Amino acid sequence: MVCRGWSRGGAASGLGKADAAALVQEGAKVVITDINEQAGRELERALNAMTPGSAFFLAQDVSSESRWQEVFAEIRRRFGGLHIMVNNAGMVVIGTPESATLEQFHAHLRVMTDSVFLACKYGIGLMKDSGGGSIINMCSTATHLGYPVFYAYTAAKGAVRSMTKAIAVHCQMNHYNVRCNSIHAGAIDTPMVVKATQELGYPESAIVGIGVVLLVCTLLYLFPRTSILGAILLTGYLGGALASQVRVQASWFNVVFAFVFACVVWGGLWLRDPRVRQFLR
Ligand SMILES: NC(=O)c1ccc[n+]([C@@H]2O[C@H](COP(=O)([O-])OP(=O)(O)OC[C@H]3O[C@@H](n4cnc5c(N)ncnc54)[C@H](O)[C@@H]3O)[C@@H](O)[C@H]2O)c1
Repeated sequence: MVCRGWSRGGAASGLGKADAAALVQEGAKVVITDINEQAGRELERALNAMTPGSAFFLAQDVSSESRWQEVFAEIRRRFGGLHIMVNNAGMVVIGTPESATLEQFHAHLRVMTDSVFLACKYGIGLMKDSGGGSIINMCSTATHLGYPVFYAYTAAKGAVRSMTKAIAVHCQMNHYNVRCNSIHAGAIDTPMVVKATQELGYPESAIVGIGVVLLVCTLLYLFPRTSILGAILLTGYLGGALASQVRVQASWFNVVFAFVFACVVWGGLWLRDPRVRQFLR
């Protein structure tokens, strides 16, 4: 039997679901927790159908302190140890530094920051007693880039990034044999990202189309024979992006960025295509 306890907060959908399946394939026993009980139970059934006895679901609101204590007690009782813990639960609501409400801000902190705080406060001891392990905190490129329309999300992930460093150093200084890392992913097609795109005013069915249009415009721009057509199409695309930013009352930076990007597109063409220079003479 593979004695490898693995727990994941907020794992019933998107990246958590994919991680759980990958870990089961690697031979781990996984404990999936999520506030969405129905999705969690479905995933538990699917994983156990794939590898009998590999998955166990516990309903959990990751912002509840008492529930974390119960979850770890159950993992200790059932599996005797914990070696990998992924803090994955997430949410995102559109809101800029001026439009986000305090309630939205606190909701993001509860789901993504309180959860990491509580998971580590009560989970490190169990991992240490299990001989060591790895804590993985799901972060985002938002921590480095700062997304004004996802202001509360950016704040919560920024805190997690700093907490990850403190946790890693704490475990190392105490010789716990427990690592702690954060993963800073860009945009990945999951239910959370679909919801955020819909809030920008686009239906889910349009998401792939929007990506394909951008790809085609960029390819046309890159090939010298079609570069002028590509630049014209990219300008139209960026006009649409600018209109979306205005609609969601994004910061002036986001609005101006689309305009500056269009200038860079045409400036680049001016530098590499003598026909454009000739035309402007
Ligand atoms: N998808 C991306 O592009 C992307 C990029 C960077 C980082 N991330 C991060 O990866 C993680 C997973 O995101 P995803 O895209 O798979 O989203 P997702 O919406 O598919 O999954 C998030 C899960 O968290 C659960 N959850 C929400 N609130 C909870 C709570 N209070 N208690 C317990 N569970 C709760 C949801 O039920 C859901 O199953 C998140 O932390 C997200 O910020 C995602």
